[in-house]
Amino acid sequence: MRIVIEASPEAAARRAAARVAALVRERPSCVLALPAGATPQAMYAELARLHREEGLDFGHATTFNLDEYLGLAGDDPRSFRARIREDFLDAVNVAHANALDGATDDPARECARYEAAIAGAGGLDLAILGIGSDGHIGFNEPGSSLGSRTRVKTLTAETARANAAHFPSSEAVPRVALTMGVGTIRDAHACLLVATGAAKAEAVQATVEGPVTAQVTASALQLHPTVDVIVDEDAAAKLERLDYYKEMESAQTTLEGT
Ligand code: GLP
Repeated sequence: MRIVIEASPEAAARRAAARVAALVRERPSCVLALPAGATPQAMYAELARLHREEGLDFGHATTFNLDEYLGLAGDDPRSFRARIREDFLDAVNVAHANALDGATDDPARECARYEAAIAGAGGLDLAILGIGSDGHIGFNEPGSSLGSRTRVKTLTAETARANAAHFPSSEAVPRVALTMGVGTIRDAHACLLVATGAAKAEAVQATVEGPVTAQVTASALQLHPTVDVIVDEDAAAKLERLDYYKEMESAQTTLEGT
């Protein structure tokens, strides 16, 4: 794991966007997994700026949204599909944007279709991830199998509360979702986890320094060979080896001559 600690959420967003942009330049036909949520918004805005001002071209790229509420159609403004479209896709020129259909009447078939579509695209090059305060990635709540594939998952009350911003109340947040599995995410060639703010500090500590456990599904990333964890100081605040990660990153930056 490469742990990158930036001074502010804005700097973390720029760093994450630079990571994505480097991949898009190196491999224009790359396949990305995209998270919804508040955290990636600044990264998406920076990617949109790079597209607008520096010609970053997504014209050969493919994207797959990580997850979706079951029961919400893609044109529902509360759906993750609508959020990601508004926050990112409308501002760039992604060639093939894929999403789970929350309005499906056959969730198992929809999940199987999605797995096949990811495989058909050649697999994920980069899974971009946020993290829930309980350490989940996608909607892989505590207890999810670390080998799970895209499937239906019931959300915890904590997750419903955390995702209530676009709903009248946390009771109105759908409690069932479709999500890429932990295994689907782990099959990505590389992963990029972005976390900012003090509310994520415990989850980040457990992800990076805790045991690998289905109780903190992001901890499965410890088993992945190529993971960047980009956090701001607040989200890094509970890391026990904080100083070491900073030293390591500074040495790595020197090695890369950046
Ligand atoms: C939801 C999503 C996750 C996201 C998490 C954190 O649970 N399923 O993919 O990472 O929320 O969202 P935020 O960035 O708004 O804190």
